Amino acid sequence: MRFLEDFKSELTIESPGRINLIGEHIDYNMGFVLPTAIEKKIIFKFQKNDSNRLCQVYSMGYNVGFEIDLDHLERSDREWENYILGVLNEITKRTDKLRGFDCTIESHVPIGSGVSSSAALECGLAYGLNELFDLRLTKRDIVDLAQMAEHTYAGTKCGIMDQFSSVMSKEGHVILLDCETVEYSYIPIQIQPYKIVLLNTNVSHNLASGEYNVRRAQCEEGVSILQKEFPEVESLRQATLAMLEHCKDSMDPKVFDRCMYVVQENERVKNAVEALRQNDLKRLGALLYETHQGLSKLYEVSCAELDFLVEFSKSNPQVLGARMMGGGFGGCTINIVHEDAITSYIEKATTAYKAEFDIELTTFEASPSEGTSIKFKK
Ligand code: GLA
Repeated sequence: MRFLEDFKSELTIESPGRINLIGEHIDYNMGFVLPTAIEKKIIFKFQKNDSNRLCQVYSMGYNVGFEIDLDHLERSDREWENYILGVLNEITKRTDKLRGFDCTIESHVPIGSGVSSSAALECGLAYGLNELFDLRLTKRDIVDLAQMAEHTYAGTKCGIMDQFSSVMSKEGHVILLDCETVEYSYIPIQIQPYKIVLLNTNVSHNLASGEYNVRRAQCEEGVSILQKEFPEVESLRQATLAMLEHCKDSMDPKVFDRCMYVVQENERVKNAVEALRQNDLKRLGALLYETHQGLSKLYEVSCAELDFLVEFSKSNPQVLGARMMGGGFGGCTINIVHEDAITSYIEKATTAYKAEFDIELTTFEASPSEGTSIKFKK
């Protein structure tokens, strides 16, 4: 793209991917989640251009760019462009101060891996444009508009967790986020001598987005059945196991299983917070294994590759807990591993995974990092 020849970046923004310790598929059910940003980031560089409405965005990784006319925003057939277009569309709904700009994007967040490269992309762009044009959006506005962009342009009816953690995270902490009230607090995460290791299956079964929306609809169906008996239940966050059992016969068995998982998982998050505060890492790890079981058997968002890696971790006493992470159907497992055992654990997991699926595993340590931030401003 021509702008690259004479690009004078005025602003650099870094926007991270995220992990979620526990509380999966809980955000859109209005419960509690425990996410935080990781050191893997997308780097954005911006300059204003002299046009009023023309924007140019270039992906350094894909070596491809595209032009956008702010007066003619519409969905694209190319998936990654929709995250950009969706954000621009949401910003133009909120302010008329946006003007032409050029932007390069360099991503170090693995795609389709359950670490939310999409939220990093949406939030970094919104954060940068807010600075560049002094749009006066709050961090919370950025979170909300990025989530909306995902609903409208990317087509996934996601919850608030990914965008919230990409923007709001604090180094060395996880966020305890109440997805009903959007109240939050930071919990220090000191798990030495253990570390968080991610194993990336490097598969991303294309069921993911469609099935995600199906799960959300099944949960809503469960709520509407529960409401007939218990009108106070506005989301699965307010449901109990006793209520569910009471309504079991009027529910499709799959809907019952989905709701059962959510109610149990919400309890597990509360127990995990207690375990973290008491530094009871064994208990925390056991909860992660329970979550995986629920995601695999009741919520049915796992896959053979993820199940294999979690089973593999179970056979290693140096691993306190493991589970699939994120939307599911591929991506990473999150594992709590003793630091002395990490090298041999990774070696063995890589060999076993290759033997079983003939796929290379990629791995990395994740440490809780700060959210989206400005790295340079002229
Ligand atoms: C995806 C969504 C999130 C959340 C997770 C599952 O990452 O974007 O909102 O629902 O899946 O916990």
